[in-house]
Amino acid sequence: MDSTASLSRIGLAGLAVMGQNLALNIAEKGFPISVYNRTASKVDETVHRSQSEGPFALTGHYSPRDFVLSLHRPRSIIILVKAGSPVDQTIAALTDHMEEGDTIIDGGNEWYQNTERRIEQVGQKGILYLGMGVSGGEEGARNGPSLMPGGSFQAYENVKDVLEKVAAQVDDGPCVTFIGQGGSGNFVKMVHNGIEYGDMQLISEAYDVLKNVGGLSNEELSGIFYEWNRGELESFLVEITADIFKVKDELCGEGELVDKILDKTGMKGTGKWTVQQAAELFVAAPTIAASLDCRYLSGLKEEREMAAGVLKEAGLVEGMGFVKSGVDKKRLIDDVRQALYASKICSYAQGMNLLRAKSFEQGWKLNLGELARIWKGGCIIRAVFLDRIKKAYQRNPNLANLVVDPDFAKEMVQRQAAWRRVVGLAISAGISTPGMCASLAYFDTYRRARLPANLVQAQRDLFGAHTYERTDRPGAFHTEWTKLARKGNAGVGALN
Ligand SMILES: *[C@@H]1O[C@H](CO)[C@@H](O)[C@H](O)[C@H]1NC(C)=O
Repeated sequence: MDSTASLSRIGLAGLAVMGQNLALNIAEKGFPISVYNRTASKVDETVHRSQSEGPFALTGHYSPRDFVLSLHRPRSIIILVKAGSPVDQTIAALTDHMEEGDTIIDGGNEWYQNTERRIEQVGQKGILYLGMGVSGGEEGARNGPSLMPGGSFQAYENVKDVLEKVAAQVDDGPCVTFIGQGGSGNFVKMVHNGIEYGDMQLISEAYDVLKNVGGLSNEELSGIFYEWNRGELESFLVEITADIFKVKDELCGEGELVDKILDKTGMKGTGKWTVQQAAELFVAAPTIAASLDCRYLSGLKEEREMAAGVLKEAGLVEGMGFVKSGVDKKRLIDDVRQALYASKICSYAQGMNLLRAKSFEQGWKLNLGELARIWKGGCIIRAVFLDRIKKAYQRNPNLANLVVDPDFAKEMVQRQAAWRRVVGLAISAGISTPGMCASLAYFDTYRRARLPANLVQAQRDLFGAHTYERTDRPGAFHTEWTKLARKGNAGVGALN
C-alpha cells in the first residue's frame, strides 16, 4: 500500500468549541483531517464527537510531531487558539516539524499586524501563512462560516478547495474569497465585528423605543421582529432577536428571560480596534463609535443607578415630553423599521469606507463588492441587504459612499421623514438612541454641500494663524481678525 494513502488532507490545532466544530465541518465535507490539542482530553472529545456525529475521517494526535507528520505534503494546518501569545506558542511547536512549502492558517481574531509579523517569521523557513477571519460563532463553524483569509496567495491556493466546501453557501457561491496580502483577512474580520457592534446597538435602540415609547410587550416585539425578518431587514440578528423575546424565564418561572438579564455588555476588543483604526485613518465611523461608547456606559451599572437617583431627586421626571398612550403604535412600528434600515446603511457605509481607506494605505486592493458577498451567509451580520451592497460596488467600484449609490440614495430619501420622527420622539422622551442619532447626523453632515466648518477655520486662523482657504479664489489666507473686528475692516493679506 502507498504509505501516503492514510495521510490527512489538512490539520487543525486548538480544539475549543470553535476548533472542534470547524474540524467536524471539514471532515463532514469529505476532507480527511488530523486534530491536535495540548490537552489530551480535548483530542478525545473531538474524536468522540466525530464518531457520534459521523463517523468522519478524523484522527486525533497527542504530540505536535505526530500531528504534523500525519499530514499530506504540502501540509496545511489551521490553528484556532486564543489570539496573541498562544498563537506564537502553537506556531513554534508546529513549525519545528514543518517543511518548506507547508502552510499555517490562523483562524483567530488576531490583530492584523501580528499576522504580518508571523508571515515574515515563518517565511524565513519557507512556510506560507494566512490570517483568516472566521465568523459565524459555534453554529457557523460547524455548518458553514464566512471565511476571510488573507496573506499568502499560494497558501490560499493550497486550501482553496477545502475552504470553498466548508464555507457557508449562498446563491452566488461560497462565502470565502482571497481577501488580499498581509493582515488584510484579520483587518476585514475586525471591521466586520465593528459593523456587528453597530447592528446590535441599532437593534437594541429599536427595541428601547418600541418598548419604552410605544409600550410594546415582549410578545408584540417578537412578532414585529419576525415580520421585519420577512422584509428588507431580513438578517440573522433580526431573526435571533425575535427568538429572544419569546424565551420565558425558567429560573423564576414568570415573564421573559430578556427582562432579567443584567444590562451590562461584554466585549473582546475588535470593536475598539475598529474605532481606533477609523480615527487613525481619518475616517468618520460615528455609528460604530456610538455602539462602542454604549458598551462602555452600560458597564457603569452602579454609577447609572446612582445617577438615576440623583437626577430624580433633582426633579427629573422620566418620560417627560411624551405621552405613551398618545403614541400611534402602528405608525411608530413602521417608522422604527425605516429608521433602523436607514441607520444601518450609514453604519455599513462607515465600515466600507474604513476598509477602503486601509486598503489604499496598505495596497491590499480590497474588493468591497466581494466582501459584501462573502458576508451574505454564515457570519453574524449576514443579511439580505448585503446583496444590494454587493451590487452597488459592482455598479461602481469607486463609489464614494453607499448613501450616494442611486438605489440607496433613493431609499435614504424615502425613509428620512420616518427616521427623523423616531429620533425626535426618542429625544423628547429621554430615550437615548446614540446609534440612530449618529447615523442621522452622519447622513445630514455628509449630504450637506456647506457646513459650519467655515467658522471653525476662522477661529483657527484667529487664534493660531492656521490660515484658511476661500470659496471664491485659490490660495491660503490669513486675517488679523481681532484687530479688524475692533477697528473696522482693513488689512486682509493673501499669503500666496
Ligand atoms: C488546547 O486546549 C487548551 C484548554 O482547552 C487550550 O487552552 C489550548 O490553547 C488548546 N490548544 C492547543 C494547540 O494546545
